[in-house]
Amino acid sequence: MNGSTNAGSLPIIPTSFEYRLDLARAATSRDLRLAPRHRWFHFAHSYSPLLVHEVLDSWQLTGYPLVLDPFVGAGTTLLVCRERYIGGLGFDLSPLATLVASVKIAEHDPAELRVCVQSACRDSRGADAIPAWSSPRLKRAFTVRELARLWALGQAISRQPNAVRGFLTVAWLRTACTLSRALADGGWFRWTEGPDRSHTILAAFTSQASLMLQDLAGTTPPSQTGVLEVRIGDARALDVRPNRVDAVITSPPYPNRHDYTRVFHIELLLLGLSEHEITELRYRSLRSHVEARPLAALSSGLESFTVPHSLNSLLTQLSSCTRKRVQRMLWGYFEDLYLTLRESYRVLKPGGRAAFVVGNVRHAGVLIPVDELLQTLGEQVGFCHHRTWVIRLRGNSAQQMGRFGREPLRESVVMLRKPR
Ligand SMILES: C[S@@+](CC[C@H](N)C(=O)[O-])C[C@H]1O[C@@H](n2cnc3c(N)ncnc32)[C@H](O)[C@@H]1O
Repeated sequence: MNGSTNAGSLPIIPTSFEYRLDLARAATSRDLRLAPRHRWFHFAHSYSPLLVHEVLDSWQLTGYPLVLDPFVGAGTTLLVCRERYIGGLGFDLSPLATLVASVKIAEHDPAELRVCVQSACRDSRGADAIPAWSSPRLKRAFTVRELARLWALGQAISRQPNAVRGFLTVAWLRTACTLSRALADGGWFRWTEGPDRSHTILAAFTSQASLMLQDLAGTTPPSQTGVLEVRIGDARALDVRPNRVDAVITSPPYPNRHDYTRVFHIELLLLGLSEHEITELRYRSLRSHVEARPLAALSSGLESFTVPHSLNSLLTQLSSCTRKRVQRMLWGYFEDLYLTLRESYRVLKPGGRAAFVVGNVRHAGVLIPVDELLQTLGEQVGFCHHRTWVIRLRGNSAQQMGRFGREPLRESVVMLRKPR
């Protein structure tokens, strides 16, 4: 199904786009719930490993390429690199993402881990711990006894050897999430009620650690893997030298106002961030939600940015007072995408490939074709457009048609190439 023709009842798409609706499920995190290592901790907004495999297969990269994911999230791209014995480099602003992704790609010693799980449980038992957490939000999410036990276990984990601490911390965070009364619900938060479950914490932690340990059994350590590394960093200003990477596979947050610092507020507090630090993280994140702010330090990168004509006219439709915040957010979002594309271009080798998984959105009835605009911005920074796969149509059930309007929203993989 290629080009602009309307294949069956599918909506018309631009000529250089093609439908790959066989990958619709791969655009979601559904397969991650059972996939070894991926299931240790995944984000609702992650894509599945199949999507990364499909992109890499289509490119037929040779040798031992280095793949960059500047929005590493839960680390799906890097885990696929690990499975394929190729290099992977990931960045994310969030310390939660970098912790989870780095633990998932690391080599672990199951025997040492087993001993340390037991030792951490033993060490935390009977400890009369008074948590140093003072956050009212944590006090609403957990009972006083749950917080005391989580704290004691967290402290016991921090006394374990360096090599196992990350693994145990991820198991501990997952355990805490299952108790929390703050439920991440799509991009938002929902508060629930429930009885004290402090007495279940050690058993839940041991069972989460055992599940993770199961995934270590039978895996042969990669032999010829290049670098596999995750760092804190901003996709708009990467600490990577020019022409270093062979490919980029990534998914920036969608401009649907979901804010990862809110979705993972509890986890970030448990990791020791203060409310102030979380707010700072919110301000510094990509402007996909209304609270993120422009960073003065990045403004010089925008000197060559030209607002695409089509974006200008779409934003004009959102200019009424009530929609001003959304208009400002979208403006910032595309500036940030431009900066991200520019950075990806800079660090890619000549001939290098990039795949951006993006979702179109609708605000106040105005459809924003993020995939087409990303292609335009990519061309502005010097990329050639290779192809775009439309992998999913959101809102095409009869019920959702009413909610989303007549036209479903595309989720696409926009593929670009840096000229040689
Ligand atoms: C859609 S998620 C990535 C999901 C990932 N593909 C996966 O499979 O798990 C987007 C990530 O971008 C991160 N992020 C937001 N703004 C960022 C920025 N300016 N630089 C780097 N990462 C950022 C968020 O913390 C979040 O983890």
